[in-house]
Amino acid sequence: MKTTLSVIKADVGSIGGHIKPSARLKQTVEEFVRENGKSLLMDVYISSTGDDVALLMAHDRGVDDSKIHQLAWDAFMAGTKTAREQGLYGAGQDLLKDSFSGNIRGLGPASCEMEFEERPNEPFIFFAADKTDPGAYNLPFYLAFADPMHNAGLLLSPKMAKGFTFTIMDVNHTEGDRIIELNAPEELYDIACLLRDNERFVIESIRNRATGEIACVVSTSRLHNIAGTYTGKDDPVALVRSQGNFPATGEVLSPFRIGHYVAGTMRGSHHGPLMPVKLNSTISFFDGPAVVSGAAFCVHDGKFTEAVDVFDHPFWEWVRNNVSAKAAEIRAQGFSGPAMLPMSELEYGGVVEKMGELDGRFTVRKDEQSAPDGGNGRKKKAA
Ligand code: F6R
Ligand code: MG
Ligand code: MG
Repeated sequence: MKTTLSVIKADVGSIGGHIKPSARLKQTVEEFVRENGKSLLMDVYISSTGDDVALLMAHDRGVDDSKIHQLAWDAFMAGTKTAREQGLYGAGQDLLKDSFSGNIRGLGPASCEMEFEERPNEPFIFFAADKTDPGAYNLPFYLAFADPMHNAGLLLSPKMAKGFTFTIMDVNHTEGDRIIELNAPEELYDIACLLRDNERFVIESIRNRATGEIACVVSTSRLHNIAGTYTGKDDPVALVRSQGNFPATGEVLSPFRIGHYVAGTMRGSHHGPLMPVKLNSTISFFDGPAVVSGAAFCVHDGKFTEAVDVFDHPFWEWVRNNVSAKAAEIRAQGFSGPAMLPMSELEYGGVVEKMGELDGRFTVRKDEQSAPDGGNGRKKKAA
């Protein structure tokens, strides 16, 4: 029997700003899914990361199943109703369309799904990030699947000897899914060439080349491409199968120790380090730091074990301290240079209007006008 794992997540309202959903909101979503998903789901796990609520569902209906997507959409609608009743901030924020139309993709919530034949034991990790976008996973998953500095199994295990195939999406292309498949290790430099641009090229999935098995899937939606204006960052989710033909769980986690700089945090418009946090964590400093949480499971006959919090360990306290220092360091330069995202990535329109206004106030000096400082030596009038 094949098992499908579907993760669908949305921000439909939170307490105290874009910080954390209320317990009642989460309960509403959970009760709705458990009640209405009885005949569809084999299991479900509900969690929050920052202001986002995620549904991790196991079923046997394959990916892109309209009933599963509708269930999640309706659950988030129910959650929105609770958010409105409680006066939560940003109620219904990620539900960008008025009604469900067959597939959740393009409607606002982020999703990633994989279908596979269960191994006798099937470990996997579910990641959820807040205050950042899908490109945040580019570096850690590149390193976990293609770099022996993190994945010792690439050297030591014959099961991964042929490497992995990366499917990478151009998320700026809105008319359809524009994708490319590249093989590690032969095409490592091509993969790196694309993945350096986190805002445009995003890992969609990774497969084991020897077996063709799906190893990793990432949500690739860009909210600002869907809505055309700022509605929040894309706050990506991902699933990674681990052990055996895939990286060990510890190899998948290894690159998250870097706390690399990603796009996001305050107003979705800055660079900041990605902090690995405990499950159900909140958001704080400068609407950040951008966070990622990880829940490890085994799934068997479509039933989940309890979740293990992969970043709840003394090692990650040390990482969090280092990442805090990195966050403070880049914040010290405020809006200047690499601290703030380039114009094309700013999530608020205000600065564009301001630039328009200022543009009209610029003048070009005529040759015969002398500058107050004598022109700084640039254009000296002939004597
Ligand atoms: C970033 C984010 C927050 C908000 C900020 C202002 O993704 O959600 O940083 O952008 O708190 O929020 P508004 O514009 O709702 O007042
Ligand atoms: Mg929000
Ligand atoms: Mg969010």
